[in-house]
Amino acid sequence: QTGMFTYDPGFMSTASCQSAITYIDGDKGELLYRGYPIEQLATQCDFLETCYLLLNGELPNETQKTEFVSRVTHHTMVNEQMQFFLRGFRRDAHPMAVMTGLVGALSAFYHDSTDINNPEHREISAIRLIAKMPTLVAMAYKYSAGQPYMYPKNKLSYTANFMQMMFATPCEDYEPDDVLVRAMDRIFILHADHEQNASTSTVRLCGSSGTNPFAAIAAGVACLWGPAHGGANEAALNMLEDIQRNGGIDKIGDFIKQAKDKNSGVKLMGFGHRVYKNYDPRAKLMQETCREVLGHLGVENDPILKLAQALEKIALEDEYFVSRKLYPNVDFYSGIVQRAIGIPVSLFTAIFALARTVGWIAQLNEMIGDPEYKIGRPRQLFTGSARRDVQPLAQR
Ligand code: SDX
Repeated sequence: QTGMFTYDPGFMSTASCQSAITYIDGDKGELLYRGYPIEQLATQCDFLETCYLLLNGELPNETQKTEFVSRVTHHTMVNEQMQFFLRGFRRDAHPMAVMTGLVGALSAFYHDSTDINNPEHREISAIRLIAKMPTLVAMAYKYSAGQPYMYPKNKLSYTANFMQMMFATPCEDYEPDDVLVRAMDRIFILHADHEQNASTSTVRLCGSSGTNPFAAIAAGVACLWGPAHGGANEAALNMLEDIQRNGGIDKIGDFIKQAKDKNSGVKLMGFGHRVYKNYDPRAKLMQETCREVLGHLGVENDPILKLAQALEKIALEDEYFVSRKLYPNVDFYSGIVQRAIGIPVSLFTAIFALARTVGWIAQLNEMIGDPEYKIGRPRQLFTGSARRDVQPLAQR
């Protein structure tokens, strides 16, 4: 019995840590941030309110929200030297390679003034990381597009500011479209935290050595890049576009057959989950957002959306997926929404990292704030050779 939830002893024996931040019930398809259902947060709050909740344990009141938003807004710029770091990359470098480097490079500006064991330093690091990630993601995009960087504009909201840094140029301002800004903000909320997933566990283990939070978050970015994790949103859209190019809806049967063949190396990207053995609640919200955005843009008949919906229907009626409790996860529809907003496919995972930064830093700060925490040291089950003596080279 921990708090209001009870766990079977078997679960607790495999748990890597205790946390009060996010609760997932994989069988029910339930996701709570600090006790609040994701469905309510995604429709009644904005991303910075959700950041405040994840960091502090309570939703902010008007005064707290105003103060938090102001602090984040006034930390959105990055040191001008960061531009020179970007220049070391080829223009066609993957944005996640660039982000792994840029976030790690933030350490160079703050590590010597950040004592992770100081609660005030943990708090300002969280503000800086949440504030600067949109600026860095937009810089990575502009660099790949050969366009000049756009500075943050403090009069805009957090998410509208990100979109103007992405889509504005010195020749033309970006007029925020409220529906698209709201959709982007909801994507951030849906990706903000997710209990002890691979990248969050990476951040915890890395941060447990006492390294600075910027280095620990860079480790999380690197882990998230993998196609089995955050890279799945990019892989899912590439999969849909590939099927579309090779025959579209008529080709779904062939693809499903491949995805069921373990030797094919093909997986239905955006399907399945380590924890959810029911519908990922985020996938439902993402599908609703998809319909809203495409309807708003007048492209509700987008063939890729139709293909995704047909693929989902066929998979959910197929014994292989049903018997293995494989359902769409957060990544299945998120790419279609982002593509409609104008985000390039290669940037999808970087946007996932932007949103997940608050979850990573909240989980890291929770661990470091526990006086009982120690450096992580996973053990192993040794399966190698028993002790033996070295033989002289001539006798080997
Ligand atoms: C995220 O942990 C998190 O919380 C992550 C995340 C977060 O917010 O941080 O939710 C974000 O990473 C979501 C997952 C994104 N990844 C993908 O969409 C990639 C495609 N999905 C798979 O690679 C897979 O489903 C995993 C990696 C997500 C989970 O893999 P598991 O642990 O092997 O899944 P499982 O144990 O439930 O698999 C059961 C069976 C296995 O086959 P059998 O051994 O029973 O024959 O189902 C098969 C798997 O091979 N299977 C799939 C499949 N996913 C699992 N077969 C085809 N297509 C798939 N997508």
